Amino acid sequence: MSREIPDDHPSLDLKKALNFVLSTLEKGVTERGHDFHLLVLGTLDEENNPQTRNVVLRKVDLSQSLLRFHTDKRSNKILDIKNNNSISLLGYDKSNKLQVRIMARAEIESSQETLLDIWSDMYPMSRECYRVNDAPGKAVSSKDDVFFEEEGADKMNGFENFTIVNCYIDSIETLFLHSSGHLRAKYQNENNQFTGQWLVP
Ligand SMILES: Cc1cc2nc3c(=O)[nH]c(=O)nc-3n(C[C@H](O)[C@H](O)[C@H](O)COP(=O)(O)O)c2cc1C
Repeated sequence: MSREIPDDHPSLDLKKALNFVLSTLEKGVTERGHDFHLLVLGTLDEENNPQTRNVVLRKVDLSQSLLRFHTDKRSNKILDIKNNNSISLLGYDKSNKLQVRIMARAEIESSQETLLDIWSDMYPMSRECYRVNDAPGKAVSSKDDVFFEEEGADKMNGFENFTIVNCYIDSIETLFLHSSGHLRAKYQNENNQFTGQWLVP
């Protein structure tokens, strides 16, 4: 039996749907259990093969149409982004039956000051990842060849491997699943103004 979509459901209106999606993405940053806390990052590698992996959504700044994640400078995703900075981010919020597909341009942070501010605020456990001896993804002959340095008194070892990636949104595609008919839309971003368009789901 198909159920009606409630009249006030945000997905029924292009503008309300976008605001709902953006505020739900913001929740992904602050609520660790939220489905949008993790997004699937898609890149193209040097051989033009698609590569995907989970990343934690660390920041949403709507004034700049920005989504941010943290990573290791030595990782393959950084090589991919240096080669081609067109990326995608994909998420599914189960409670709202909402899929978001985001196309963006990735920029690797260059300000040491910004990186240092974030590094100083990070949980010790998060900093540990960056103290691994070799580049993530490097082949090793034994798992014992992988080790993590102890944190130094100044808490700075590993900082040289840490970076953040700022993803500037070009477009957002949304899909709300409804038993009475799914609703799909695409929003194109120009100078932080999103123009929406319904799509056939
Ligand atoms: C739940 C979860 C969260 C993750 N968050 C991040 C993250 O925020 N940043 C990151 O670089 N890798 C993160 N990873 C690891 C990546 O998915 C990936 O395995 C790793 O970064 C290597 O990717 P690459 O070789 O494509 O660069 C996460 C993995 C999982 C399972």
